[in-house]
Amino acid sequence: MTRVLSVASECAPLVKTGGLADVAGALPGALKVQDIEMRTLLPGYPSVMAKVGKAKAVVSFKDLFGGPARVLAAKVAGLDLLILDAHHLYDRTGGPYVTEEGRDHKDNDARFAALCFAAAHIAVQGAAGWTPDIVHGHDWQAGLTPEYLHEMGSTVPFVFTIHNIAFHGNTDASRMGALGLDNWRFSSDKFEFWGQVSALKAGLTGAAKINTVSRTYAEELMTPHFGMGMDGVLQSRKDDLSGIVNGIDTEVWNPATDPEVANYTAPKGKAKAKAALRAEFGLPDSDGPLCVLVSRLTHQKGIDLLLQALGALTGRGGQLALLGSGDTELEVALLERATHDPNVAVKIGYDEGLSHRMMAGGDAILVPSRFEPCGLTQLYGLRYGTVPIVALTGGLADTVITANPAALAAKAATGVQFSPITADAFANALTRTCDLFKDKTTWTMLQRNGMKQPVGWETSAAAYAALYRSALKG
Ligand code: ADP
Ligand code: GLC
Repeated sequence: MTRVLSVASECAPLVKTGGLADVAGALPGALKVQDIEMRTLLPGYPSVMAKVGKAKAVVSFKDLFGGPARVLAAKVAGLDLLILDAHHLYDRTGGPYVTEEGRDHKDNDARFAALCFAAAHIAVQGAAGWTPDIVHGHDWQAGLTPEYLHEMGSTVPFVFTIHNIAFHGNTDASRMGALGLDNWRFSSDKFEFWGQVSALKAGLTGAAKINTVSRTYAEELMTPHFGMGMDGVLQSRKDDLSGIVNGIDTEVWNPATDPEVANYTAPKGKAKAKAALRAEFGLPDSDGPLCVLVSRLTHQKGIDLLLQALGALTGRGGQLALLGSGDTELEVALLERATHDPNVAVKIGYDEGLSHRMMAGGDAILVPSRFEPCGLTQLYGLRYGTVPIVALTGGLADTVITANPAALAAKAATGVQFSPITADAFANALTRTCDLFKDKTTWTMLQRNGMKQPVGWETSAAAYAALYRSALKG
């Protein structure tokens, strides 16, 4: 039995802003069959505290970066949680990272340094007798953990998973004292990044093993285009860098038992689910494909490309139903488009139930991301007989087999990929989608092939187990 402490800034079903939460929430269950016992250290945001029933204080700090704090052990939704309860850091309105106005909390450096410090403390001293063999951190919020492990004299290995390299967790060098970081480690081979402290770089340089959430993104990360300034650091760690594709929770995303779409069977039941979805979005009937998109609305996700390419879809009888929230300009532009085009419907917000109904009712799921470490919605699509139309990048490259003549002839294709990632190429992909949709035999083949893809956690859980073993070997 290997004990792993997972350190995450979000974890489904307690707190979620994106796919990281899904992965952090699914890994402990997936790893059980690998004889791995995972506990998850999570900040005690109000939304988390509200879901914690009976909890036991297992660690206490008199002063953790400006106030008292405790680690509470609790079991929620089958997860063994260690919750860092620190009012001065987490008890506030807004999201995990931002204020109600959408600005980063000013003390995010200390808020997540505290999480890392608590993780290292647990690795060294244990929590009510439980001591991990490995600490596994996710993204920059967990990046300073190896620094504190080092300072506490621990040799417990740290495994670091990059879900998104775009966020570095940088802070001013003058904050080092306040964060309890050693000045002498402020160097380019440790956590110094262009004169600042980078929590992400601390994780990348301090980890025994680094992985990201698809093989292609692991390769892309070492290039200037995708590395976002960390490509050099990652090249220097090439031998310890790997890609392990995310799975999805196949119980939560099970078309046969999904409570959001009673008696749905893909692909036959799609007509009924589609009619319901059209009604829900106020879209008219049409012979063209109903494309759905569920996403954060940011530059990463290529929503501006969608706005430019959309005419290729609607001009051929296709439709768009979109659910998302994020950048105000994108929200406004999408809503504006929907008011002018009866075949475009947009809902701004976050709605888990609706996202399920969209997977069931859509003919195709669009993911035109500029970069995508893994992406989860194309995996939901595959499972629900909803054909993914995706940019050729990261996990989207690894999980979809594009309908080129060879893949069609081999009856292997599951979707449509486009490259380069431009509005023109996306428009061509949408045109092709409309053509493929007209050919019912081919379209059904795409659906059925997709539904056969293994999108669960089995293979990737085994890969994480192997990663932990290699980290323990040193
Ligand atoms: P990222 O983590 O970059 O946002 P992923 O595709 O990995 O992208 O994960 C996004 C997750 O968040 C998926 O589970 C997706 O269904 C969900 N999601 C995103 N936006 C919404 C929304 N507006 N409503 C419901 N679920 C959403
Ligand atoms: C990030 C990435 C996304 C990935 C998710 C979970 O948010 O943007 O591609 O699926 O993390 O690993």
